[in-house]
Amino acid sequence: MAFPPAFLDELTARNPIEDVVGQYVTLRRSGGNLFGLCPFHGEKTASFSVAPDKGIYYCFGCHKGGGVINFQMEIEGLSYPDAVRALAKRVGMTVPDDEQYQSRYRQQERLWALHKEAARFFHSQLYAPGGAKALEYALGRGMPKATLTTFGIGYAPNTWDSLVKAMRAKGYTDQELIDSGLVTVAKKNGNIFDRFRDRLMFPIIDVRGNVIGFGGRIMNNDDPNAAKYLNSPETIIFNKRKNLFALNLAKKSKLGYLILVEGYMDAIALHQYGFDCAVASLGTSLTEEHATLLTRYTDQVVLIYDGDEAGQRASARAIPILEKAGLQIRVLKMKDAKDPDEYLKKFGADAFKVLLEDASNRVEYQINAIRRKYDLREDNQRVEFITECAKLIATLPSSIQREIYGRRVAEEGKITYEAMEAEVKKVWKKRQNREKKAEEKRILEPARTTQPKSRTLRYDNVKSARAEESLIAQAMKEPALLDLTEALKPEEFSVPLFSRVYAQMRSRHEAHLAVTMATLEELSAEEASHLALVINSQSGPVNEQAFLDCVRTIQSQHRKANVTTEDDLMAMRKKMQERKGMKL
Ligand code: GTP
Ligand code: MN
Repeated sequence: MAFPPAFLDELTARNPIEDVVGQYVTLRRSGGNLFGLCPFHGEKTASFSVAPDKGIYYCFGCHKGGGVINFQMEIEGLSYPDAVRALAKRVGMTVPDDEQYQSRYRQQERLWALHKEAARFFHSQLYAPGGAKALEYALGRGMPKATLTTFGIGYAPNTWDSLVKAMRAKGYTDQELIDSGLVTVAKKNGNIFDRFRDRLMFPIIDVRGNVIGFGGRIMNNDDPNAAKYLNSPETIIFNKRKNLFALNLAKKSKLGYLILVEGYMDAIALHQYGFDCAVASLGTSLTEEHATLLTRYTDQVVLIYDGDEAGQRASARAIPILEKAGLQIRVLKMKDAKDPDEYLKKFGADAFKVLLEDASNRVEYQINAIRRKYDLREDNQRVEFITECAKLIATLPSSIQREIYGRRVAEEGKITYEAMEAEVKKVWKKRQNREKKAEEKRILEPARTTQPKSRTLRYDNVKSARAEESLIAQAMKEPALLDLTEALKPEEFSVPLFSRVYAQMRSRHEAHLAVTMATLEELSAEEASHLALVINSQSGPVNEQAFLDCVRTIQSQHRKANVTTEDDLMAMRKKMQERKGMKL
């Protein structure tokens, strides 16, 4: 049975590969990846790796690999459907029957489309005569037109039914409007009317680019009882606990970290001032789901909550949640401004950068984070505190830094600096040795052979195959790149496996579904392993130019291959004609 794509999406999202593998293998983190002893072959040194961000596992010893479903199949010897059922059971999901899920998915698709139309409608209203006041408000708050466009900011007119009318005209039913949460139903007569009226509208967009809800801000504070912000209610496409405002943009940032703030306006201001890595929670406190979502895009988060007491409380609540998800946190505190929006407008981007650099004293924050884990009044916990700090300090490149922080930790741990220095040296030597060995290993066995391990997967056209590998690995990391491949057909791939995978990725992306290793279907264990290796080998940021180069290579190689066959045919035909001619 084929499982509905949206179900597999959720199943794999709720079964992070590191958790599932972690049930069978003790994993240690090293950089972004996790390592452990391979459960599929006997070994003493860890060559089994898990890349949580890519959702894959791969063993460099026995070359087994794949996504979370492949792992479950392999480790328990299950068929594909049984592995899916096992994972569903693990997280308490019911396996749907096909029909039910298909219809739910169709319903979601309609709501995404409706929201996109609604966002267009609101945005256009900003420039309609009735929207003059709203436009003035937005500009007055320091959002230039470019920002209004980037964020799709709009205006919900001051009437009861402008949106209802506009959406009916586009063919949406009243039931669909009710399901979208964009209208309210009158108790008296069941009539529907616009939920958002006379508000500045902020579309909330998920990481796949779907508009899933709105926040609407009032523009005057005349009525003390009116909520400043009104958000869309929970719907089948909108869950506040699982989405973050502006993550659709921030996930493309090259800054290498994400900034987490409280308000829509804060996130927008940060983007506008060049900090394009800012996201905001949606008027709720930070959830574990948010933290997990963040780990998909970064391992470093800068937390900037409002300076008031509520903000500080919220920040204190958020820290352990982020830490538990494995994120490194820095906390930025502002002086003389209540939130980042105000700060930037008062003091500018450069002042903010200084603040950020101050906060980005990573060592300081990391030591603080370690300290929070231990009770320094207990001897044995103090020892662990010192050991863990020594590991951190040993990674610092400057001897001045090592001494400063080493002294600080020694003092807190109540030991002499000499003892601390010796501990740091010990850790450092150990690491040097490990790195040397790893280096030797790398030299002895090149990481990648030119051909896949499995004979059945051998490449006919290595040049095209390389481009196909790279294209798939990049698109796996950033599915939005698939928008650039309209002209590239699966038939143009030289490797049948990649051709199939590419076709699946394309159709999932077009259907707004997650494109991950785990959601690929109909892969044999060998194919999954090979694919995991290919995806694993992709490193560094993805890049549109490099991606388009792959597309071009695949197409030109394909054309060449076809030209040769055509040329051959022509030549043969010519020969035959000549022969016939001779006979005649
Ligand atoms: P400005 O006041 O326009 O600068 O907005 P802000 O984004 O700085 O908002 P603020 O710091 O007041 O609040 C932070 C976030 O909490 C907002 O972005 C909203 O998501 C949410 N929020 C604020 N007020 C309300 C409210 O009255 N109702 C609801 N549901 N959410 C609110
Ligand atoms: Mn504000």
